[in-house]
Amino acid sequence: MSEQQGQQPNIPANGALGNGHRNGSNGNREQRSSGPNGPAGAFSPRFAQIVGWGYHVPEKVITNFDLEQIVDTQDEWIRSRTGIEERHVAAAPSETSASLGILAGRAALEMADVNPNKVDLIICATSSPEHIFPSTASIIQDGLGASNAGAFDLSAACSGFVYALSMARGHILAGDAEYVLVIGAETLSRIVDWTDRATCVLFGDGAGAVLVAASDVPGGITATVLGSDGSGADLLTVPAGGSAMPASLETVSSGGHYIKMDGTAVFRFATRVMAEATRQVLGKAGLGVDEVDLVIPHQANVRIIQNSVLKQLKIPEEKVFINLQKYGNTSTASIPIALCEAIAAGRIKPGDNLVFVGFGAGLTWAACAIKWSVPIAKPEATWWRNTQRQATYQAAAARSMWKRAIRRVYSQFPAESRWGGRKEEGEAG
Ligand code: ACO
Repeated sequence: MSEQQGQQPNIPANGALGNGHRNGSNGNREQRSSGPNGPAGAFSPRFAQIVGWGYHVPEKVITNFDLEQIVDTQDEWIRSRTGIEERHVAAAPSETSASLGILAGRAALEMADVNPNKVDLIICATSSPEHIFPSTASIIQDGLGASNAGAFDLSAACSGFVYALSMARGHILAGDAEYVLVIGAETLSRIVDWTDRATCVLFGDGAGAVLVAASDVPGGITATVLGSDGSGADLLTVPAGGSAMPASLETVSSGGHYIKMDGTAVFRFATRVMAEATRQVLGKAGLGVDEVDLVIPHQANVRIIQNSVLKQLKIPEEKVFINLQKYGNTSTASIPIALCEAIAAGRIKPGDNLVFVGFGAGLTWAACAIKWSVPIAKPEATWWRNTQRQATYQAAAARSMWKRAIRRVYSQFPAESRWGGRKEEGEAG
């Protein structure tokens, strides 16, 4: 179930407002020297604009009524305590954090009409990475055919997407990147204990992505706030499987590889930091609470949003976007999925002041202020452009398979011949 939400930045060839991309729509590496770190006298202001967005969620939907068949819970309890009605779950083994992330990333790139090989950096924020290593971001980079991109995962739990936006902004403002693809990708259903009613009803799977581009157009991501309080690390954790408690028969049989949470403590923390972080980021951006057009909060629990953003900050309901009833808590994916749906619903227009705010395990919290400066218009998906894209994806898959095959063949030869007859260090004889 892939979504580009049928809306796209209007991309004129070299428009005055433009598409938000610096120097038109290409991330030409030669143009980077014009950033703040460029040659003396060549300074021109740079801005970090979101120019593409997309998401993907698995087909399979599990409703609260379905959950009633699995654990001792009731639709009424879940709805009234969390606001959640259903969630998407990665039922097929081929649906992984990377595969969902690849589809979301493609959608964001297509929305911006940017070729994957223009991307300089891929940051995947995830709480359910494919492996401890390699990074899920590297697998996504390969799947997208983003052959010129660096890639890394960012671990800040549900705050991760906003943390990653902050990193993307930093890279762009420093002149180190023209395009950064920021992805939040999750398959939390794989690390949830489906016998624990206190957690399994809360989470869902999915991925959301945005393409952040260097731009001459003022606005974009204007301020960020990042926070952490590790004294609460034990309140929300997957205790086993890392270096502190390596996986063993005992850790698996005791369920140490599943999410463990003190829900009440996390609830209390979340309601406090969501309001505080929003206030702080607005202060940094020089905005008053009444100047905010839309808040997109982390979609964990409607009561957390009500008790923080709505009650404490007195931001009216129509200025807060909520879609958690359909997806549950998709951790790092929740804000980008909500962004896509807000755009599709016509809730965002150029000139709007947005706030993204999240919290999560760590404990962590993060907020960013965005002056939306990119036009939003219906995409023109031509037959030719779609064919080109499909060819790009197929070429990426073929290139990846070819590299793997070459490595396999290469590994058949003895080390001596691989190194042109030179003995490996430490080898006798
Ligand atoms: N169905 C029915 N009853 C339940 C369920 C369930 N699924 N879960 C718990 N209960 C019961 C409890 O056993 C308890 O029963 P008792 O009174 O007989 O002991 C009762 O409901 C109340 O439980 P509480 O935990 O006090 O319920 P609360 O109102 O606090 O809601 C919840 C629990 C929804 C988990 C809430 O605390 C919460 O949302 N916390 C924040 C969680 C969160 O957002 N985590 C994600 C962080 S993001 C990240 O980094 C992944």
